Amino acid sequence: MKDRIEELKKELILDATKMSTPEEVEQFRIKYLSKKGAIPALMADFRNVPAEQKREIGQLINDLKAEANEAINTMREKIASGPDTSLVGIDLTRTATPLPLGTRHPLSLVRSEILRIFGSMGFTIAEGPEIEDDWHVFSSLNFAPDHPARDMQDTFFIRRGQDDVLLRTHTSSVQTRVMESHQPPIRIVCPGRVYRNEAISARAHCFFHQVEGLYIDRNVSFADLKQVLLYFAREMFGPETRIRLRPSYFPFTEPSAEMDISCMICGGKGCTLCKGTGWVEILGCGMVDPNVLRACGIDPEVYSGYAFGMGIERIANLKYRVRDLRLFSENDMRFLHEFDAAH
Ligand code: DAH
Repeated sequence: MKDRIEELKKELILDATKMSTPEEVEQFRIKYLSKKGAIPALMADFRNVPAEQKREIGQLINDLKAEANEAINTMREKIASGPDTSLVGIDLTRTATPLPLGTRHPLSLVRSEILRIFGSMGFTIAEGPEIEDDWHVFSSLNFAPDHPARDMQDTFFIRRGQDDVLLRTHTSSVQTRVMESHQPPIRIVCPGRVYRNEAISARAHCFFHQVEGLYIDRNVSFADLKQVLLYFAREMFGPETRIRLRPSYFPFTEPSAEMDISCMICGGKGCTLCKGTGWVEILGCGMVDPNVLRACGIDPEVYSGYAFGMGIERIANLKYRVRDLRLFSENDMRFLHEFDAAH
């Protein structure tokens, strides 16, 4: 009996939503409440309900009846008060109240732009782990075991020992991973986060982001490198940009260079940004050292290549004039919203 009432209740609720005309209300009344209707039929069977259940079942039937009456009354009132005018004058095609949207992080914007520019020159994206071993971060890249450059990069070690586990200090480790698993031609850019044990200040942080580039093929020359970097600088900082390469040292490239671009603020005349020199440094680069190729299973007699690495924060600083590196990781909405208009 209980189940029957339950079933009928479901049906009644559904039917109630379907009424809209006086004829439909009448049909509903007949179906549930007329002499031959479903609720009087329940009442007729009420006699057979065992005495101890009468109270409960009786209540359920009464409730159902009340529900049917209520549905009929509500609908009659609705019909009497005329058509529903509550939506008249409301423009249903209007867009909803805008939700507060976030903005893209300036480092994401710059990262995407760097990848877009190199992508347009045929570089594909490669990534590697942030937790690395000594081989991929140092040894394969021609750092001698006691090379001071290992200290130069203030490594965070996770486990010291024969096989060090550490947080990568640069994305050059991805070069090794790709060269170990692929034969040339290789043409990749590798974006990622890197870590160094530095005191946090406006100009240094214990983590930051880099994009590494690597091109290995037959007959790759320094001139190729220079041309690719010039194209990059002009796409990134404007067509008037000039570049200059200064000799430098990295264990994994020979020869090595640092690249400056003409100061985008003063155009090279000298200002506070470029400290009066007219130039600002943006990346390190060079021809991949044959020792590195050999360590990664690539024959330096057949192949040559170039590599470069740049800090994304550094490029973002120059592009957007951000003076304090910490802003990039503090998530201050006032700072982040400044980039709404930037793109
Ligand atoms: N790994 C260097 C650093 O973190 C940046 C770099 C310099 C990468 C020269 C390169 C390169 O691939 O050729 O300071």
